Amino acid sequence: MSSICVVGIQWGDEGKGKVIDMMSESSDLVVRYSGGNNAGHTVVVGGDKFVLHLLPSGILRPGTQNLIGGGVVVDPWELVKEIEGIRGLGIQVELGKNLFISWTAHLILPYHRMQDKVMEELRGHGKIGTTGRGIGPAYQDRASRIGLRFSDLADREVLAKRVDAALAFKNRFLQGLGKPRIDRDQLLQDLEEVGRFLLPGGVDAGAEIRRAAREKKEILFEGAQGMMLDVDLGTYPYVTSSSVGPSGIGAAGFPPRNVQRVVGVAKAYTTRVGEGPFPTELLDDLGERIRTQGREFGATTGRPRRCGWFDLVAVRYAVEVAGVDELCLTNLDVLSGLPKLQVAVSYEGKGRKYEVFPAGVPDLDHCEARYQELEGWEEDLTGVRTFEELPAAARAYVEFLEEGLGIPIPVLSVGPGRNQVIHRGAPSGKGSNARALGV
Ligand code: GDP
Ligand code: IMO
Ligand code: MG
Repeated sequence: MSSICVVGIQWGDEGKGKVIDMMSESSDLVVRYSGGNNAGHTVVVGGDKFVLHLLPSGILRPGTQNLIGGGVVVDPWELVKEIEGIRGLGIQVELGKNLFISWTAHLILPYHRMQDKVMEELRGHGKIGTTGRGIGPAYQDRASRIGLRFSDLADREVLAKRVDAALAFKNRFLQGLGKPRIDRDQLLQDLEEVGRFLLPGGVDAGAEIRRAAREKKEILFEGAQGMMLDVDLGTYPYVTSSSVGPSGIGAAGFPPRNVQRVVGVAKAYTTRVGEGPFPTELLDDLGERIRTQGREFGATTGRPRRCGWFDLVAVRYAVEVAGVDELCLTNLDVLSGLPKLQVAVSYEGKGRKYEVFPAGVPDLDHCEARYQELEGWEEDLTGVRTFEELPAAARAYVEFLEEGLGIPIPVLSVGPGRNQVIHRGAPSGKGSNARALGV
């Protein structure tokens, strides 16, 4: 049995979808454990591209079960659309057979999306640049104990009670903003309708995951976003509203301490969507070149991603706080053709030097990255399949990151396709790491 957590360790979009898809070939169960449809996880199979928002990325593997866990906020209407969309692409999705939804998952309701938008407007220049999917307000209601959970859909009376409890607050809030009230009966009717579609997938998710673990099944926990967007550990307030790291697995009803390995996913450079500090950001032609070469446009909102150099300070911190055992480095191919590469090794600000990430935005705002320059390479890497075949400069780049992070990088990704992967073999002294990444 193995239980592995795959977590992004930058600001999201590290290529988690590709890594999960790769690893799910040998998994029995894939559990999405946090976030909502703010996520966009891309999987490219042959000529087909799939972008998954709520569905776990194991959905493309026949025979793998997929579960949306208790820490996830589910927009039920968007989930229905996503299921229908993916079915339309020829993928089998059967609620209760290969797709399950935790009874304890909270629902994103239409007023959450509205609230997300209004809050962004009110923030003005301080806006976060959210995905506008209602994520923050849904987590807010969870904490305020006026949220609706997936299980509420199963009982008409309970549902009506929960809707009334929520609307007692929401309608006042909307009234204060001069917005129309939510029509209770219409909302109830809409929820009942969407419930009829989704309820066959309802499950006591924690019990199922723990049973799978007892039965020695292979379990993959799929993280969303990235550690630097974590609500507590990220660049607050420019973060999402959930616990991104392995601790978020607790909400799925599985003890995080029973997760055996944590696989971090990072790009060979950095991207960020939305606002907030980004010490290695490239605002010049080089940033534009990386954006074009890496096709760096958001998988959820289509926004151009901000691009910059690899940030060893931030990633080292993320590795530490997430307890990452090993790293999968993606998009190495995108750096081809750049004569020199920079890697941030420290920050400087207000006369101080930081080698350890200053986990507080006020400090970070004044920080400038200090770089180590490395040689670039010209060669196209997309067809390379062994570490030895890589240009010497690319090998040196990977080894430099490995050294700086203090963990092995047993897998490199050199293109979006399933087979565009380099397995480096068992790193010395870390035999079981290689097993986790399927080497
Ligand atoms: P996720 O949110 O972490 O799953 O990542 P996204 O899917 O949002 O963004 C990653 C993007 O990079 C997608 O378009 C992937 O198809 C693409 N991708 C993944 N790995 C590689 C790689 O090694 N090279 C290149 N060029 N693209 C990659
Ligand atoms: P995946 O799983 C990149 C960012 C948004 C915004 C901030 C808050 O594909 O890596 P939210 O809508 O969550 O309240 O927005 O977080 N964000 C992501 N950026 N990838 C993601 O997910 C993201 N999910 C949220 O752009 O800056
Ligand atoms: Mg993404």
